[in-house]
Amino acid sequence: MIEACIFDLDGVVVDTAKYHYIAWKALAQELGFDFTKEDNERLKGVSRMQSLDILLEIGGKQFSDQEKLAMAEKKNTLYVSYIEKMSPEETLPGVEQFLRELRKKGIKTALGSASKNAPLILERIGLAGWFDVIVDGNSISEAKPNPEVFMKGAEKLGVLPERCVVFEDAIAGVEAARNANMYCVGIGEPETLGLADLVIPGFNEFTVEMLLKL
Ligand code: BG6
Ligand code: MG
Repeated sequence: MIEACIFDLDGVVVDTAKYHYIAWKALAQELGFDFTKEDNERLKGVSRMQSLDILLEIGGKQFSDQEKLAMAEKKNTLYVSYIEKMSPEETLPGVEQFLRELRKKGIKTALGSASKNAPLILERIGLAGWFDVIVDGNSISEAKPNPEVFMKGAEKLGVLPERCVVFEDAIAGVEAARNANMYCVGIGEPETLGLADLVIPGFNEFTVEMLLKL
């Protein structure tokens, strides 16, 4: 029996990967190396500091913790300048309708995101009110694939993990859902998200009716 749905944000509710990409690429170029779209795939679902470590590994660069904090801060300032301009049109197709249907059916909702910018993004796209609970990068200490973010969401909602369904676009996130003992719907390609219980291209092709039949 499904009592709650927990949504990842980046790549599930909005496509922010393109803004992360521009901002990380600018940092890489400043440091004198290139950062490709393929490289950017490796950062999906990964925390900000871990993303920086991957980027520096790609460029073969090493820095002190203090320097790394300053770089992450700089990247984030550029990233925030993009997300500040986001509007409700950037919500991915079918997401808002799906959230409406869930509320009608009495199914609880949570956001389970690694991003510290989640509150700003939700505010810009006008969806903050559709989530009963928000767990984001500001309130967790362990990054996905650790299940903490989803476990906290379930706990705050007062729903058992086995009655939660997680929607995720990143491999680390799918693993986190599995580690939380939750059913996981992958958003994207079955080739990439093979560990998910079900993979769908997006919410345009998926309804709450279909969810309740799982
Ligand atoms: C995740 C993204 O949702 O949030 C990652 O998929 C990102 O790419 C992570 O690194 C942290 O985001 P932020 O906004 O706190 O830098
Ligand atoms: Mg994601």
